[in-house]
Amino acid sequence: MKVLIDKLYTHNYLSREELLTLLNSMTENDKEFLINKAHETRMKHYGDKVFMRGLIEFTNYCKRNCMYCGIRAANKYADRYRLTIEEILEACEEGYNLGYRTFVLQGGEDDYYGDDLIVMIVEKIKQKYPDCAVTLSIGERSCKSYEKYFKAGADRYLMRHETASEELYKRLHPGMTLENRKKCLRELKDIGYQVGAGFMVGLPNQTNEDYVNDLMFLKELEPHMVGIGPFIPHKDTPLKGEHGGTVETTIIMLALVRLLLPNVLLPATTALGSIDPIGREKGIKAGANVVMPNLSPLSVRKKYALYDGKICTGDEAAECRMCIEGRIKRAGFSVDMSRGDNTAWSRSS
Ligand code: 5AD
Ligand code: FES
Repeated sequence: MKVLIDKLYTHNYLSREELLTLLNSMTENDKEFLINKAHETRMKHYGDKVFMRGLIEFTNYCKRNCMYCGIRAANKYADRYRLTIEEILEACEEGYNLGYRTFVLQGGEDDYYGDDLIVMIVEKIKQKYPDCAVTLSIGERSCKSYEKYFKAGADRYLMRHETASEELYKRLHPGMTLENRKKCLRELKDIGYQVGAGFMVGLPNQTNEDYVNDLMFLKELEPHMVGIGPFIPHKDTPLKGEHGGTVETTIIMLALVRLLLPNVLLPATTALGSIDPIGREKGIKAGANVVMPNLSPLSVRKKYALYDGKICTGDEAAECRMCIEGRIKRAGFSVDMSRGDNTAWSRSS
């Protein structure tokens, strides 16, 4: 398998068949070799830097019903909230003072925030903090809407494809299609956003073939960012009785994506940190180079519960900021508070 890993390292490409062979046959030794190659690649492109993004979870209302997600519309136990513009700006101010230069506005698919309101929020943040990047993560909307937000100053858009396997996608997302998801991602990219796609690991009945679909799709889309995290069951969802994803598989996927897309911005996700106390550190050592500590007001933290056992729900923004910095340094990496754009990107291009 080392020959295949070397080939991937050198060419940043493997065929579908080769990827599947790799996933089916790697020994512990091969896995270690893969992670080392991913680490070398990140060092070559980004050095030991880990970029920080401040995450503001501004609404947990959602009109969708993703089977895995704790804020799905049908979950009547979810304690719903919406942040006002003022509250969002306060979170930005706190974040700015802590050194953050990227704000990620994430929410469920909540039509209460129509185009005009999103535009106003983006404009206000950019007006107050012209040196900051604004990232939106609010799901599937029309191309026209995406254009409006971009014109208002939004720089980036995160929307995981979740899984690139038709069958699995359909089972998990009632009333949604993989086709539209992909269409949205391509539109976002064409408009000029730095785009983040990504998938979950360890979904019920997810196979190595499914992971190969994810990897091939990402290679083709070439997003600027890729979010990968383990599926973690939530007690008030239809998948409550299922097993979750493992640290080991998540880390292998991070390493493979680092090698397939050497320039990519790759977060060590909160979900990864939630299934293992040093999960994020393990992710960083396998090629991840972004962390997204929480800036949401403490009063709503617990309510943005996509899965059970989420970390940082009781910690102030300043505590997370210090905690994660310590973790990054102890793991042998350095914190970078700059905007941290993808090295292969410029807004004019
Ligand atoms: N476990 C892990 N990740 C989840 N997400 C949603 N629900 C869960 C869960 N139960 C992820 C999805 C979504 C991102 C914001 O959180 O991939 O895109
Ligand atoms: Fe939030 Fe460690 S990052 S408490």
